[in-house]
Amino acid sequence: MTRSQTPPMIRMTGIRKAYRLHRKLFAPVEELVAVNDLSLEVAAGETVGLVGESGCGKSTAVSIMLGLLKPDRGEVEIAGRKIGALSVDERVRLIQPVFQNPNASLNPVKRIASLIGQPLHLHGGENVKAEVARMLDLVGLPARLADAYPGELSGGQRQRVAIARALILKPRVLICDEPTSALDVSVQAQIINLLLSLKSEFGLTMVFVSHNLAVVEHLADRVAVMYLGQKVEEAPTDALFDGAQHPYTKALLAATLLPDPETGMPEQLIGAAPADPFATYAGCRFAPRCREVQESCHTTEQTLRRLGASSVRCTIAGQKGRVGAAEPKPSGCS
Ligand SMILES: Nc1ncnc2c1ncn2[C@@H]1O[C@H](COP(=O)(O)OP(=O)(O)OP(=O)(O)O)[C@@H](O)[C@H]1O
Ligand code: SF4
Ligand SMILES: [Mg+2]
Repeated sequence: MTRSQTPPMIRMTGIRKAYRLHRKLFAPVEELVAVNDLSLEVAAGETVGLVGESGCGKSTAVSIMLGLLKPDRGEVEIAGRKIGALSVDERVRLIQPVFQNPNASLNPVKRIASLIGQPLHLHGGENVKAEVARMLDLVGLPARLADAYPGELSGGQRQRVAIARALILKPRVLICDEPTSALDVSVQAQIINLLLSLKSEFGLTMVFVSHNLAVVEHLADRVAVMYLGQKVEEAPTDALFDGAQHPYTKALLAATLLPDPETGMPEQLIGAAPADPFATYAGCRFAPRCREVQESCHTTEQTLRRLGASSVRCTIAGQKGRVGAAEPKPSGCS
């Protein structure tokens, strides 16, 4: 197979996932569309950051990517194979998660060595004891913790255990869903640096979900921004942070607190009304909160189009003379 024919490590195409639930007690069942027409490709060895406000569908999207949740529509392929066609054994050897809260995945009555070694044990691996010792060392945990219980470890140490457990099968893809947000700020940096060194050690492809844009800028090669279940912008990390195109991305970046207290509170470029995941929209889903909204936005359905290095779901983005608009050269539509 030539390089151009090599499939991406992750390919999600046209994913839709709705939950059916009651908005209020005794209210009729309604559809909440958590992910809507999401397509995403991640090349082998690449790290893609997935960002967006709480409830925009990031965890739903990565659960589908991991094969833990079935989409209503669309396809997921890992290393060129449909995820539904993989056996559990094949899937766990290809793709593994690290979640926000390691406590939920670590059985409190099992010792650390047993927890780290369990995937290898279950999936027929050999030399479990030696592999566990190697993983402890790789994630920076002292060998003496092998006999400890999760409750005897700090939050950062428990997350290192979760990472060791995810990597012991030597997967090709690591999906990190806010892996540092439950940790102390000083420990967050250690875990980020650990993930970076393990990425190069294992040649990992990574998807990194985070609310911390500084971390995403540090880690990711490319960033996808989600709003109410849709991807609204995707761009190489530098392009996104240097010249966001979509009004929502600009608002997200503007809302980031700066380290200099003299700078004061960040500017709010977003309407105060919360996003309504139950609402249906004839036009742009961001229109009720967008500072650059125009009449046509409420009625024109937005599709992704190329704008310079970015892919943007906004017909107004890039128009000359628009307030705050960068002016890259449009290069076709998709
Ligand atoms: N199991 C579920 N049943 C019903 N609704 C759900 C379920 N899981 C998620 N949702 C809803 O789907 C939408 C997307 O949720 P999701 O957890 O994917 O968002 P998120 O971007 O990961 O948010 P956060 O940043 O807070 O983790 C939200 O409106 C959420 O309330
Ligand atoms: S389409 Fe209109 S409402 Fe939507 S993001 Fe663009 S300018 Fe704002
Ligand atoms: Mg989430």
